[in-house]
Amino acid sequence: VAAVLAMVATGASAEEHTGGCDEGEEVIKFSHVTNSDKHPKGLAAALFAERVNAEMDGKACVEVFPNSTLYNDDQVLEAMLQGDVQMAAPSLSKFETFTKQFQIFDLPFMFKDIAAVDKFQQGETGDAMKESMTRRGLLGLEFWHNGMKQFSASKPLTKPEDAAGLKFRVQPSDVIVAQMEQLDASPQPMAFSEVYGALQTGVVDGQENTWSNIYGQKFFEVQDGSTETNHGVLDYLVVTSVDWWEGLDADLREQLATILSEVTQERNDAVGEVDAEARQAILDAGGTIRELSDEERQAWVDAMKPVWEKFEDGIGAENIEAAQKVNE
Ligand code: LMR
Repeated sequence: VAAVLAMVATGASAEEHTGGCDEGEEVIKFSHVTNSDKHPKGLAAALFAERVNAEMDGKACVEVFPNSTLYNDDQVLEAMLQGDVQMAAPSLSKFETFTKQFQIFDLPFMFKDIAAVDKFQQGETGDAMKESMTRRGLLGLEFWHNGMKQFSASKPLTKPEDAAGLKFRVQPSDVIVAQMEQLDASPQPMAFSEVYGALQTGVVDGQENTWSNIYGQKFFEVQDGSTETNHGVLDYLVVTSVDWWEGLDADLREQLATILSEVTQERNDAVGEVDAEARQAILDAGGTIRELSDEERQAWVDAMKPVWEKFEDGIGAENIEAAQKVNE
């Protein structure tokens, strides 16, 4: 009953919340922070649960907790190490306290599009990153795409100077903090679930996110508009705890890994469509999207790219070079 009440309160669907796990099944709690519908992560997590619950019935059972109903991103990795949740897919910006390696994804204008990001992740450098936190107890299983980030604010943003003096909610990432400082804006790290309220009440003036998040969280309703900068990437790492994963029976682990990999392929292949649909949905709902001319966009590149220098030593010039190669 408590579970049903929780579902009603959060608007989550029954399949999502409790697949009705049976006794003897390995229960896998999958916690995330976005909506489920019309969202790359929500759709991928739901498909993963659907497939495991159908194909591994009696052996394993996935319960998805979307919309930060179980944990925020700043709690979920600790909860995972405690064994309170088995899987999650935080954005790559959320791993900074565990590894500096993912900082490369936060550098503005590092990747020209999601296809380039995909190529980098599949390459040697990207692939090795999944195992960069095993010493700290976390194992990356797959990269899931969301899309490129856009800026939104309480006033029109066309030139980089328009952002000066404004407060922007950012994910807790040193790179993104430095990126906003580069624009003479004031970065305010904040949990995803608090952003709508902060924009609405004017605690912050703007934020950066993908179309699916701007649509899914209704940020466009409490902003003047969004500017299509495509200035950075927002992607996810499906992560688990080394202890839990290694403790599974080999057969079970292999089947889970296979399903996850197939789901990843299917949903990553469809991500462009989900992104475009969310962009269109913002327009259909009356939101404003400002497009930039090549010249206007170049001004944002010139203003933000100097931030690379600050992180080059930590990230490694060779890694930045490998990332730049995939843009060619
Ligand atoms: C954010 O915090 O803005 C995003 O990482 C949320 C998400 O999971 O897409």
